[in-house]
Amino acid sequence: MKVTLHTGALATQSTPCLVLGVFAQEPLTGAAAQIDRASNGRLTALREKGDLSGEAGHTLLLYDVPDVAAERVLLMDFGQSSTLTRAKYRKTLAAAINAIQQLRAGEALLALPTTLPNGMNVYLALRDAVLLAEERVYRYTHTKNDKHAPKMPLTALTLALTDDSDSVVAERAIAHGTAIAAGVRLAKELGNLPGNICTPTYLATQAMALETRCQALSVEVLEAEAMAALGMNALLSVARGSRQPPKLIVMKYNGGAPNEQPIVLVGKGLTFDAGGISLKPATDMDEMKYDMCGGASVLGVMEAACALNLPLNLVGVVPSSENLPDGDANKPGDIVTSMSGQTIEILNTDAEGRLILCDALTYCKRFDPALVIDIATLTGSCVMALGKHAAGLFSSDEALAAELLTAGERAGDRAWRLPLWDDYQQQLDTNFADMANVGGREGGAITAACFLSRFTKEYRWAHLDIAGVAWISGKEKGGTGRPVALLTQFLLERSGLM
Ligand code: BES
Ligand code: MN
Ligand code: ZN
Repeated sequence: MKVTLHTGALATQSTPCLVLGVFAQEPLTGAAAQIDRASNGRLTALREKGDLSGEAGHTLLLYDVPDVAAERVLLMDFGQSSTLTRAKYRKTLAAAINAIQQLRAGEALLALPTTLPNGMNVYLALRDAVLLAEERVYRYTHTKNDKHAPKMPLTALTLALTDDSDSVVAERAIAHGTAIAAGVRLAKELGNLPGNICTPTYLATQAMALETRCQALSVEVLEAEAMAALGMNALLSVARGSRQPPKLIVMKYNGGAPNEQPIVLVGKGLTFDAGGISLKPATDMDEMKYDMCGGASVLGVMEAACALNLPLNLVGVVPSSENLPDGDANKPGDIVTSMSGQTIEILNTDAEGRLILCDALTYCKRFDPALVIDIATLTGSCVMALGKHAAGLFSSDEALAAELLTAGERAGDRAWRLPLWDDYQQQLDTNFADMANVGGREGGAITAACFLSRFTKEYRWAHLDIAGVAWISGKEKGGTGRPVALLTQFLLERSGLM
């Protein structure tokens, strides 16, 4: 989808569909007032008839609006200006984009309402509009010809500004929104692909493809032999149960000074998690194809970083494997020596994410990182604690935690902090190794984070458990591309581009 900016008069602008934000119960303002005047009060007349409900998310399509060049005018009702929230704002825009796609208009010229939700400025409002439109335009087609897909997806969106002085900010919002959307889209698509297509090898191929699309990126893929030489026995122990070779994907984005310490992102790339010998129940097991969404989000952030030309150094590390039952798979009670030298008793083979991550986290030391963030669909326990709306954030670095929480809030891709206190560490004690890979039923997301913390002592570190937010279940099942927006926001702010 092509996104452009329009400043100047709206009534004389020809477009298949002019979309206007209104507050149905209130006098028209901004772009809607402009069109109302041009059409000799047509919108006010309709509003007074009560054809718009005054509830956020309603739309009304008008044809033949007098003295207006647009073929159609679509009113989108944002409800009451005084109670407009970001959620309502997004819901309304999504409804409008859906309506445009049903119309087969193909292109639209869209003007936002004059009042924005609390905490939102023109930049965020426009960026959200771009992201939402891209979100509605995305269709999974790799293995399906979607009959319900709109006959004519939105291919061009023009955002109208009523105030010219916003145009610099608006151009930036469009550029940032487009870049983030590209990253989100890649993360979603990789997540949605089935396990028999999106294997560790496939993920590695996608990283290589990213390298050819992006000047500043160089990609290296470590094979099992290289991992063995490094002593990555925890990672390799998970892969032993699979016929698919594991990969350690390393992506370096160089946008900063050569000697500048990089930010390192580590993403869990488990392309299918059956649980191994500690086999998962059959119900909904298909959703464990999404167990690589942490890794996919790292690829997505790399894509966005390239598009934004971020002036910093970034390293993405994606340990990738399957977790399946097999004669050679890990067994409960098996003990492995991780790359760090610490031994791990594998009491549950389904707690495999931390096994592949711990070696990747040890590997990160070689980059002399400014900080490391890992992103993983790590625990069902995190979903129980926070549900589907917030990612779990863990860090004993107060400043880093605060930065990530704020980035999530601004990006509308929120995280919520959970404790990482030493009190929980003892749950990992075992008589037979330096630690067990599970800490019992209580506080499972926390003990998982505690496990990882034992491999991250030498740098600033935060952990995002995205098990609840990486995909949606049910009728609308699909990857969300989260937390690409949160992480890109974090990087934009670090780059001083905000
Ligand atoms: N990939 C799963 C976590 C998961 C489960 C994410 C459900 C989203 C939905 C992870 O590898 C796993 O199986 N974790 C176990 C850990 C347990 C054995 C300590 C879990 O959460 O049940
Ligand atoms: Mn598992
Ligand atoms: Zn898993």
